Amino acid sequence: MNASGKPKRIGILTAGGDCPGINAAIRGVGKTAILEYGMEVIGISSGFLGLINQEYVQLDENQLSGILTLGGTILGTSRENPFKKDSIVNKPRLIKKNYEELGLDCLVCIGGNGTQRTASLLVEEGLNIIGIPKTIDNDVWGTDVTFGFDSALWIAVEAIDRLHTTANSHKRIMVIEVMGHHAGWLALYSGMAGGGDVILMPEIEYDIDIVAKYLKKRALNKKPYSIVVVAEGIPCPKGEKPGHYIADEITKRTGLEARETILGYIQRGGSPSPMDRVLATRYGAYAVELIAEGRFGMMVAAIADKITAVPLKEVGGKLRTVPLNHTLIEKAIRMDVCFGNC
Ligand code: F6P
Repeated sequence: MNASGKPKRIGILTAGGDCPGINAAIRGVGKTAILEYGMEVIGISSGFLGLINQEYVQLDENQLSGILTLGGTILGTSRENPFKKDSIVNKPRLIKKNYEELGLDCLVCIGGNGTQRTASLLVEEGLNIIGIPKTIDNDVWGTDVTFGFDSALWIAVEAIDRLHTTANSHKRIMVIEVMGHHAGWLALYSGMAGGGDVILMPEIEYDIDIVAKYLKKRALNKKPYSIVVVAEGIPCPKGEKPGHYIADEITKRTGLEARETILGYIQRGGSPSPMDRVLATRYGAYAVELIAEGRFGMMVAAIADKITAVPLKEVGGKLRTVPLNHTLIEKAIRMDVCFGNC
C-alpha cells in the first residue's frame, strides 16, 4: 500500500531498440506486482512518448498471459529522448505532470543505456524510477549482462554456422556484420562461438593490411575458407557498411573471393532464448521487490549471476565496452584468432 493506504500503482514503459525478452520482463513485473503485492499496473505505450502523449493501458493478468515467449514489446517502443533540446515543450515537466495525474507510485523503465540515462535524469525531476537493463548490445554499465544479448547471440551464431558450409563449398572468405552499436560483445562472443578466424570489434583498432596478410597466410596453408566476424561499430569510410567495406578490401588486397552478410535486425527479432526468458523474469520480479521496499532510483542488475541493484545515477549515460584484458580475447589470441592488430 502507498502512503494513502491505496494499492501501489506502477507504470511500465519500454524504450530504445526492441529485443527478445522485453515481454518476459513486462510479465515478470506485472505478475509479481499484481499477484504477490496487489499492485495496479499501467502499461505506457511507445517508451517515454507515451507519458508525453498520455497513451496508457491497464495491464491485468489477461494482457500478461501468453507473452513470455513473444518477441518485441506489447507496449511498443520509441527512441524519444525527453531531455533532447529539440522542442519548445518542456517534456520532462510534462512527463512529471502526467506521472502524477496517473497517480503512479513508481515508473519501471525497461531499456538500454539511453533509456537508463533518461531514467536517471527523471529521478532528479522527482519521479520514483526503477530501471531494467535490456539490449542485444550488452553494453549497459552496472550489470554483467542485459537480456536480449543471449537471443541475439543464438541468431548470430546460427548464421555463422550456416556460412561455414557455403564458404567451404565455394572456397570463399565469408564476412558477417553483427550488431552491437559501439560495443563488440556480440562480435566477440558470436565470433568465438561460431569459430570465426578474424574478429573485428570497436575496442581493438584494426589494420586491414594485417587482416589481409593473415587471410592470405591461411590460404597458403591450404585452409579452404575463412570466416570474418565484424562488429557494426568498427571504423570504416563514411557511408560504408563495415561488412561491405571489409569484404571489398579483403578481395582487393588478397585476390581471394570474399562475400558479406549484414545480419541486421534479424538479431532483434523473434522469441527470446530460454536464458533471456529467465533473466528477464528475474529482473522483472526483483524490480517489484525494490518498489515494495521503496528502494527507488535503482537499476536491477546481474553481478556474478546474483540479481542485485545499482544506483541509476552511476549507470546513466555510461557505455560498457569489452575490456581489452577480457579472458575470451586472451584465449582467442592463443588460438590464433586475428583481431586485426598483430
Ligand atoms: O541498440 C540495439 C541496436 O540494435 C544496435 O545494435 C543498433 O546499432 C541500433 O539498435 C539500431 O537502431 P535502430 O533500431 O534505431 O535502427
